[in-house]
Amino acid sequence: MTPAEPIVAVQGLAAYYGRTQVLFDVGFEVRSGGVTALLGANGAGKTTTLMALSGLVQREGDIRLCGVQGRRLAAESVARLGVAHVPADRGTFMPLSAEENLLLGAYLHRNRQEVARDLERMYAYFPRLRQRRHQQAGTLSGGEQQMLAIARALMLRPTLLMLDEPSFGLAPLVVQEVYQILHTIREQEGLSLLLVEQNANLAFGIATQVYLLETGRVVAHGTPDQMRCNDAVRQAYLGH
Ligand SMILES: Nc1ncnc2c1ncn2[C@@H]1O[C@H](COP(=O)(O)OP(=O)(O)O)[C@@H](O)[C@H]1O
Ligand SMILES: [Mg+2]
Repeated sequence: MTPAEPIVAVQGLAAYYGRTQVLFDVGFEVRSGGVTALLGANGAGKTTTLMALSGLVQREGDIRLCGVQGRRLAAESVARLGVAHVPADRGTFMPLSAEENLLLGAYLHRNRQEVARDLERMYAYFPRLRQRRHQQAGTLSGGEQQMLAIARALMLRPTLLMLDEPSFGLAPLVVQEVYQILHTIREQEGLSLLLVEQNANLAFGIATQVYLLETGRVVAHGTPDQMRCNDAVRQAYLGH
């Protein structure tokens, strides 16, 4: 992989549930160290796009992930490439403790000292998780569960972190807290983000590139500044 090559390059992506096609000719990029946001209303195809990258739905088209042609990769190999996916349902193992969940995120790493260091780093980002490390994950608040899901994904030491609506169902103050931590993590870990959001202001606040999805198609893309001037975006997402 050359330094200038994007971490993710997708062209002509189609995805299907059974015979129903839900993505049509979707194309986008995540540049190395960049933050790409997929913005769209409910049902636009955002979750399906992330699932297609992870190899969890039937798909066609050209996908390059971390310099590797991704078409035939299974979900585990995607993780081995350094892609961590925080799914919409957060994928928490509810009966296990917060710390046991974090350790599961490190399943590809064998060196215990390094894993212990990663754990400490996560507790520094998310002090609330340290406080609740022995608490059953199912009893954590929604915000704490979202933080746990992000921290668990980071335990993989990903080069690309894919986040499916990290703000979903959270109170505004908690959303702010989660996004502040995402900003910090992005700077300190130097990773690339592929972020799915329904909230345009959140997406514009962190993204370097934004793609607007409608009924399974990319209908606009650009930098946050360009997207703020886009009429479709202004009417549907910014309310002016
Ligand atoms: N498991 C499924 N089976 C059939 N259709 C699905 C399934 N999941 C999602 N869809 C459909 O695919 C389209 C895109 O959904 P999704 O990717 O979940 O959108 P978003 O994440 O943007 O809300 C929607 O029309 C949705 O109804
Ligand atoms: Mg979704």
